[in-house]
Amino acid sequence: MRPFVHVNCAMSADGKIAGIERKQVRISSDEDKNRVKELRKKYDAILVGVGTVLADDPHLTVKELDYDTNPIRIVIDPHGRTPDNALVLDEKAPTVMITSSDCEKEWDCEETIHFEGELCLSEMLETLAEEIGIESILVEGGGETIAHFFREGLVDRYTVFVGGLIIGGRAAPTPAGGDGWAAENGIKLVLKDSMVMGNGVVLTFEPEKR
Ligand SMILES: NC(=O)c1ccc[n+]([C@@H]2O[C@H](COP(=O)([O-])OP(=O)(O)OC[C@H]3O[C@@H](n4cnc5c(N)ncnc54)[C@H](OP(=O)(O)O)[C@@H]3O)[C@@H](O)[C@H]2O)c1
Repeated sequence: MRPFVHVNCAMSADGKIAGIERKQVRISSDEDKNRVKELRKKYDAILVGVGTVLADDPHLTVKELDYDTNPIRIVIDPHGRTPDNALVLDEKAPTVMITSSDCEKEWDCEETIHFEGELCLSEMLETLAEEIGIESILVEGGGETIAHFFREGLVDRYTVFVGGLIIGGRAAPTPAGGDGWAAENGIKLVLKDSMVMGNGVVLTFEPEKR
């Protein structure tokens, strides 16, 4: 069975997840940061795309946990763009790199999984479950990666913190970026919960059952 997939991100009140320079912007309130910390503890793995690694250089760990108790970090990086000194490769938690079979880059990490041709996320999820025993994944971004998960119908829960900030800019990334899809193919969600978290609100959605 494939792992449960929960997408979590933070966006400004005008629907941007970063500025036009694609650099990290403080959107979350302190309360929301705590919520995300607690959320990370509940998941077997945290996944991001290489764009987030290059833009933000995140650790993707819970500070008070050690190597054995932190969730596994997963990076989708088809072309081997993650530098050796990226914080996501440090010794604070195991890391699994997902790359194409053409990629010759080697990382000092727990495991590298190679895929043939185009990456099929449902196959990737099956492999992560079967080979590593991952039952749940928190997808933290960025917009291209989240869009791929939505497009392939693989999102079981979506939480978004909407913060009191206008970032602006047509080039600023949004929670579901990439090439997009026709409006009539929009992915329908059901609102399950809403909660004020400091100067913002956390919305929890689940996909509409077909
Ligand atoms: N506010 C938030 O919550 C939040 C969270 C995270 C990130 N961010 C922001 O988001 C921005 C980065 O997002 P992004 O959309 O540029 O990058 P991204 O989603 O982090 O990474 C996208 C890249 O990952 C690879 N990739 C991901 N999924 C793939 C798939 N299914 N198949 C093939 N390749 C796949 C591709 O790499 P290749 O191009 O090499 O093939 C793709 O270009 C930054 O500005 C960052 O600050 C915000």
